[in-house]
Amino acid sequence: MAILLEGRKVSRNFGGLAALLNVNFQVRSGEIVGLIGPNGAGKTTLFRCITGVHPPTFGRILFKGEDISKLMPHHICVMGITNTHQVVKPFPEMTVLDNVRVGAFFGKGWVRGEVKDATQEALRVLEFTGLTSKANFLARNLTLPDRKRLEVARALATRPELLLLDEVVAGLNPTEVDRMIRLIQQLRESGITIFMVEHVMRAVLSVSDRLIVLNFGEKIAEGPPDEVARNPQVIEAYLGKNYASGKSHYA
Ligand SMILES: Nc1ncnc2c1ncn2[C@@H]1O[C@H](COP(=O)(O)OP(=O)(O)O)[C@@H](O)[C@H]1O
Ligand SMILES: [Mg+2]
Repeated sequence: MAILLEGRKVSRNFGGLAALLNVNFQVRSGEIVGLIGPNGAGKTTLFRCITGVHPPTFGRILFKGEDISKLMPHHICVMGITNTHQVVKPFPEMTVLDNVRVGAFFGKGWVRGEVKDATQEALRVLEFTGLTSKANFLARNLTLPDRKRLEVARALATRPELLLLDEVVAGLNPTEVDRMIRLIQQLRESGITIFMVEHVMRAVLSVSDRLIVLNFGEKIAEGPPDEVARNPQVIEAYLGKNYASGKSHYA
């Protein structure tokens, strides 16, 4: 599989804080790659580096071999990279359909001002994400699971080649988690490459081909999910030293 996205020594500072330090990574075409790590590890920051919202302070990001690390977010979106936000960001006073239509006007599949094409594209995406019956609801009236789906729908309407999902499963109940996992698998089957941050381990372990683990801004592990889940450094990052060495917390 060809390399779609590559990070070389990606670093991002916020004042004196190194939120990311020398992170090397690759995402191949057609893969689902999971990005995990404790709170504050730098996962969202890495996504913002990729989308150009917080460009890397040092290092480079290549998309299909082209350096995108200094491009503006809208330019990166048109090239085929879109993200969802950890805290969902719909236009609350607009309908679900209009929210998705906005996505269809931008991005790779930009429909050059043809409203009817944008509407058609939006309706297709609503069907795919299971939101057709809510098309005329105001976004602010949606339940959390539907708002998460709308976040995915808005991103999809830009026709991404690479979709960055930031915690789209977190906060859902087990039935909704299963539904979202199925949607993610269908996205991959439709040809979209997926890079996803997720705290819900069941979800990220079951859908990912590969995991990358960040801790305090640095990559500490990478590999198949079952291998990463057994890695003592990863267990220590999540649960503390005593767990990693096999001792109980209370020993
Ligand atoms: N815009 C910002 N300004 C200053 N510090 C930030 C900003 N965004 C993130 N950080 C800091 O960078 C670190 C990584 O944050 P983040 O990428 O959100 O972590 P994660 O998504 O893994 O929980 C944290 O210490 C956070 O406080
Ligand atoms: Mg985050």
